[in-house]
Amino acid sequence: MGKEIKTIGVLTSGGDAPGMNAAIRAVVREALGKKLKVKGIKRGYAGLLAEEIIDMEARDVSDTIQRGGTILQTARCEDFTREDGQKRGASICKKHNIDGIIVIGGDGSFRGAQKLASFGINTVGIPGTIDLDINCSEYTIGFDTAVNTAMQAIDKVRDTSTSHERCSIIEVMGRGAGYIALWTGIANGAEDILLPEKYDYDEQKLVNHIIENRKRGKKHYIIINAEGIGHSVSMAKRIEAATGMETRATILGHMQRGGSPTCKDRVYASIMGAYAVNLLCQGKSNRVVAYRNGDFVDFDINEALSMEKAIPEYQLEVAKNLSN
Ligand code: ADP
Ligand code: F6P
Repeated sequence: MGKEIKTIGVLTSGGDAPGMNAAIRAVVREALGKKLKVKGIKRGYAGLLAEEIIDMEARDVSDTIQRGGTILQTARCEDFTREDGQKRGASICKKHNIDGIIVIGGDGSFRGAQKLASFGINTVGIPGTIDLDINCSEYTIGFDTAVNTAMQAIDKVRDTSTSHERCSIIEVMGRGAGYIALWTGIANGAEDILLPEKYDYDEQKLVNHIIENRKRGKKHYIIINAEGIGHSVSMAKRIEAATGMETRATILGHMQRGGSPTCKDRVYASIMGAYAVNLLCQGKSNRVVAYRNGDFVDFDINEALSMEKAIPEYQLEVAKNLSN
């Protein structure tokens, strides 16, 4: 069993995600309920290095569970990827009597937490990213809201695409991962879903499929293109030239990261926040909270970062079969 925890810090890092506030609220209130002190660290690791550290009380997280974004702000911090930055971060924690830190973010943020742990600060990571690209977890904070936001936007593009009998390429976020594309592809009944994990760069196959669909009486052709493939605008020009079907590209962009979190994101983020505090109270460090097989669990960060997660083949097959 590790050291006794009296004060915990909480920060959000990397891209923001709807539900991060629910997690911060849970961390603050669970910790205060256990008679711990809570310090909010603003702007991720950048704020830690700049000592932007504030005391947090129960009322500081009032009226936040329904708000998108992160009340602590977030940032990406180059200095923290270097050892001198990480050591400085650990000594700043010690200076502020922070015994344990909860890091809400993605893989990169967990690597930072891993380093802080190696310099003597107990750390727990909570998966916070719309991309769903944390391999140890079937859920990440913000994914559910992001896919619902994207789904509603794609429904709107579909209306105009059908009216004009056009092909629409709709680019969704996800960095190198295709989960947002896969889910919206299924939910929006897309004719094609282009995932970075599966993309073979054979555009002729896509062109042939569009022409076949046209012959079979389809009024539109919706392609969900993952950000990891990108180039939607130039792809649209090539497809229009090759098929004769008017083609438009829509890049949904950052609207996918905003908005009020869904019920699922509020509930899971709340549970993960409380769970993380309990891990620190048990003296645990270098852990990541995860959701797997219907349960909230935790992994060693090193193990979590080495795990792999594949695109579910069956879901992709279903998506293809249902778009005929
Ligand atoms: P995410 O956490 O969503 O994956 P990033 O990859 O941008 O987002 O990482 C967020 C921040 O975490 C980075 O700006 C940096 O401060 C920190 N970080 C990323 N990689 C490392 C690393 N290898 N070592 C230490 N800190 C890191
Ligand atoms: O990781 C979340 C995410 O929105 C990715 O989907 C996207 O690739 C990236 O962040 C965009 O980052 P930025 O907001 O810095 O442009």
